[in-house]
Amino acid sequence: MDVSVIGLGRVGLPLALCFADAGLTVLGVDKDADQLDAVRSGRMPFKEPGADELLARVPLELSAHAADAAQADAIVLTLGTPSFSHIEIDMGDIRSVLDDLLPVLRMGQLLVLRSTVAPGTTEFVAGYLEKHRGFKVGEDFFVAHVPERIAADRFIAEIGTLPCIVGGVGEASGERAARLFERLGAPIVTTTPVQAELAKIWTNILRYTTFALPNLLMMDCERYGANVFDVIELINRDYPRGGMARPGLTAGTCLRKDFAFSEEKSNAPGMLLGVSRVQESVPLFLIDGVKRRLGSLRERKVAVLGLAFKRDTDDERDSLSHKLVRLLERELADVAIHDPVVATPTVGFEEAVGGADVVIVATNHSVYSTPEALRMIADRAGEDCLVVDPWNALGAAQVFTYASEVAALRA
Ligand SMILES: NC(=O)c1ccc[n+]([C@@H]2O[C@H](COP(=O)([O-])OP(=O)(O)OC[C@H]3O[C@@H](n4cnc5c(N)ncnc54)[C@H](O)[C@@H]3O)[C@@H](O)[C@H]2O)c1
Repeated sequence: MDVSVIGLGRVGLPLALCFADAGLTVLGVDKDADQLDAVRSGRMPFKEPGADELLARVPLELSAHAADAAQADAIVLTLGTPSFSHIEIDMGDIRSVLDDLLPVLRMGQLLVLRSTVAPGTTEFVAGYLEKHRGFKVGEDFFVAHVPERIAADRFIAEIGTLPCIVGGVGEASGERAARLFERLGAPIVTTTPVQAELAKIWTNILRYTTFALPNLLMMDCERYGANVFDVIELINRDYPRGGMARPGLTAGTCLRKDFAFSEEKSNAPGMLLGVSRVQESVPLFLIDGVKRRLGSLRERKVAVLGLAFKRDTDDERDSLSHKLVRLLERELADVAIHDPVVATPTVGFEEAVGGADVVIVATNHSVYSTPEALRMIADRAGEDCLVVDPWNALGAAQVFTYASEVAALRA
């Protein structure tokens, strides 16, 4: 085997397929039997454009045992790295796989951390291998961090173009990792492990913060009776020094936790936690806005459109839609959910919005920006139904509006 990929999730499986497509012999390892069964039967376990075709075409060996990965010259870890609620990285999966690998690793191998990790983790991994196996990392064993910066749904499109950051422990580790990843075609940028770690987590912190500002502005606008879309237009129009992003429910498995990898040893403790609190309070802000306009939600029908954490993905992990639904249920509302992309079963669009007292666009799936969606809400929801659309997916340019105004947009 040229390369083993341990963790065939949303990052690992497309990566393994792309390595195989580049002509490498690849072993994919995952402890999840369902995941392996799906891949074995040629079925992608999640939506990733272009991956089905690769899965059907390229050869991929599979195993359920991390230790088998040591057959390969290079081992790439694409394991999950959640954050504990203590604001601290949870390295449980990485530690567990390292312990499985320890007895079977050989001199001359390369171990790559592809997971998103807290600064210092790559040096920790190198030190762990030196401590327990006596390797001299950078001389007789090689360790590097090559962070994944691709967005879900764009993996295959971006893997060959997005600059690939390679942080090797010692020059030789960097060279070995660069040689492996250059097979994927993207330009290689070499640096130190900690700079690679910082570059990845701050790529995500930048996005998380960028989207927190318009959300805080949205809340300010509600307080002062202003329209957030008008204010953003005033900020951005013909202004040459950057612009304000637009509001929406921002979370997902990466953005929601990666800030914690800075926050755990922060020089300004609480700053990024504040960013997270803004994002996490958007569902409550929307519900409070509804209650201000309609009163109690008890036994009132609320249609929630979208369960995924972002547009057109089937990834529901850490989506704020789920938090929104939970909060609505605590208001004793009758919640009807529609999402045509996710695997979770939901009701049809017409059934969700039919007779609704409130319609909330929680995910800006492209299907919600179509004339059919407008028509359905206008026809089926009733004139005085409150429509909540922080994304402006429907085009009314108001966070809180009424179905009658949405109906007027059809003209
Ligand atoms: N999802 C994204 O869009 C994305 C983008 C960039 C970076 N990342 C980062 O990449 C990493 C992986 O993310 P993901 O979304 O692919 O996670 P994931 O949960 O989809 O995949 C992780 C996989 O590892 C497997 N696994 C766990 N322990 C194992 C073990 N002991 N042996 C074998 N397999 C094991 C799990 O079964 C799972 O299939 C994370 O650090 C994440 O922050 C994710």
